[in-house]
Amino acid sequence: MKYQSIIAVLVTGGVFLSVGHINSADKPLPDHLKELAWAYAITIEKPPPLPKSDKKLSLPDTPLKFTRDEIVGRKDGVAFQTAPADWYPGDHPEMPEIYAKGDPSRQVIACALCHYPNGKGKAENAPPAGQNRDYLVQQLRDFKSGVREGADPRKTNYRLMIDTAKGMSEEEFAEVADYMQSMKWSQWIKVIETDTVPKTYLRGGLHIPLEGKEAGTEPIGKRIIETPADPNRTEFLRDPRSGFIAYVPKGSVKKGEELVNTGGAGKTFQCALCHGPGLNGIGNIPAIASRSPSYMARQLNDMKQGTRKGTMAALMQPVVVNLTSEDILNIVAYTSSLPAPPAEHSKK
Ligand code: HEC
Ligand code: HEC
Repeated sequence: MKYQSIIAVLVTGGVFLSVGHINSADKPLPDHLKELAWAYAITIEKPPPLPKSDKKLSLPDTPLKFTRDEIVGRKDGVAFQTAPADWYPGDHPEMPEIYAKGDPSRQVIACALCHYPNGKGKAENAPPAGQNRDYLVQQLRDFKSGVREGADPRKTNYRLMIDTAKGMSEEEFAEVADYMQSMKWSQWIKVIETDTVPKTYLRGGLHIPLEGKEAGTEPIGKRIIETPADPNRTEFLRDPRSGFIAYVPKGSVKKGEELVNTGGAGKTFQCALCHGPGLNGIGNIPAIASRSPSYMARQLNDMKQGTRKGTMAALMQPVVVNLTSEDILNIVAYTSSLPAPPAEHSKK
């Protein structure tokens, strides 16, 4: 698959064209990808098109206006060419150039497009803001060297992340890591325990509530459905102040709390041993509290399946080896429900 055609399908909002062949009937999906399909959210059916617009668009509390092409950094119909919209420049320090613009000549895509200028990220990518810089540098090296991959090869934006890291230098890793560490984590996801969820469809790795005649509710089952609090702001306008809602099954937070705090009678380990008080991270061990449950579930499964296998990930092997997909769900329901670190918390 050529790079240009991957980005073409990605930007039109559907990765389905490029992934169809992997999901053929002669190659059934492994159980973990069926059970955790909610976390990988692979877009298989063509989603309804996003509206077309050449108008200058706006958001509250900012004088800036951007067209849809400017919002996503598209130029002359080609994706990933220029800096995507920075709606609220006052919300973050000055971005390193590579973070803001990328460099199309070496397939480095602007980090700000997927992770947002403020590093909060979305459920289908990752939330790097406020993580320790040495941890972040290590992850970028792991993407580049091939020891960090997703367990679902159909996840197209993961490939773009890997290509982006491959195009970058050590100096750039250090520069973007310092930038991402400098932003404090604050609440971004609201967790709601429930038996029923809005019916959703998938677009670009995100669950989006159906509208009009198709709207309705359905049983949540053994799933977490993480969806933008305001789909239009997240998808169309890419508003970096508009967060997410995570619907989680009733009782999952309590079951997760038990596993996280006690290790579940030898099934796993107490997370705070390494992830620190409040699971807010310590040294080069990442913070896992109050962040995207879909992202965290993918990480636990990727480590369990052995596709995320950097040197540091070896420490996580005994933690994940005995976890079922349901344990993973319960654990991330709990971790995402934890409060963001207090404002005075500072990470070194
Ligand atoms: C096309 C979208 C996209 C772009 C552009 C992108 N990323 Fe990512 N990034 C991802 C995805 C997808 C993941 C992994 C999500 C997962 O594991 O499921 C990720 C993960 C990461 C992580 C790991 C976070 C953690 O907690 O371990 C870091 C660090 C990161 N990206 C940094 C960057 C930087 C720096 C840039 C720009 C140079 C960048 N990304 C550009 C999509 C993107
Ligand atoms: C022995 C130490 C240790 C214990 C115990 C531990 N972790 Fe980790 N964890 C790590 C390290 C080290 C990493 C970074 C892995 C890497 O660099 O790839 C990590 C990474 C993670 C990540 C990925 C974070 C990200 O931003 O991508 C998640 C999720 C995670 N741990 C969850 C847990 C949970 C849940 C528990 C308890 C059930 C736990 N960990 C217990 C050491 C530990």
